[in-house]
Amino acid sequence: MKRLVCANWKMYKVKSDVKSFFERWERYEMIDKEIVFFPQFPLLEFVKSFLTKGEKLGGQNCSDKKEGAFTGEVSPYLLKDCGCDYVLIGHSERRHIFLEKNEIMGGKILNAINAGLKPLYCVGEKLEEREAGKTIEVIFNQLDALKGLENVEFDIAYEPVWAIGTGKVAKKEDASFVHTKIKEFLSKNDFKKEIRVLYGGSVKKENARELLSADNIDGLLVGGASLDPEEFYRIATSI
Ligand code: PGA
Repeated sequence: MKRLVCANWKMYKVKSDVKSFFERWERYEMIDKEIVFFPQFPLLEFVKSFLTKGEKLGGQNCSDKKEGAFTGEVSPYLLKDCGCDYVLIGHSERRHIFLEKNEIMGGKILNAINAGLKPLYCVGEKLEEREAGKTIEVIFNQLDALKGLENVEFDIAYEPVWAIGTGKVAKKEDASFVHTKIKEFLSKNDFKKEIRVLYGGSVKKENARELLSADNIDGLLVGGASLDPEEFYRIATSI
């Protein structure tokens, strides 16, 4: 399984920023990882025009419907049409700022799969849940959204909510423990074997190598540190 390293650009960058990112990115050799960029929707085709070394494109979210009168929503079929291969589903900011419920995640994943995309399904516990010893219970509840999807292809990102954008990275052992539990859940429930489990939350060039070398961490979902091409390249090539 190739490691997967993703740049989640969130609500950052306009076209001129994208252009200067790729002017610097172009200097680097292609690497032995799968690299995916997740820009804002109106930037998708523009970003795609710079992906000349096998990097892939993804949407940051999608609807659970194919099409219809749903103002402000984005169909995974359009994401595919714009050149995406991936889509983030259930990112912590969607769950906690935009109050997306766990119950809609299965429908979104299935819709994305039917549109020909590979979902990167995000899970993670809040600080109070971790402190109450409920990390695994919370993660398993979020994984319940995958019921009935045992035969489809997707990847998972474990992003502890308290580590996202805070500078507080999970300890390698703690992240690795949760990743191992996620993999146990998947194998117990007969999911496909090739599912990668990525870590996300304050990944930087200083901690990427340690995280990527831990058991069952198959890649990284990088927010803030992916906005800079040098830093993102150093993260992607840290191992
Ligand atoms: P961060 O974000 O790297 O800025 O913590 C990660 C994410 O939200 O995917």
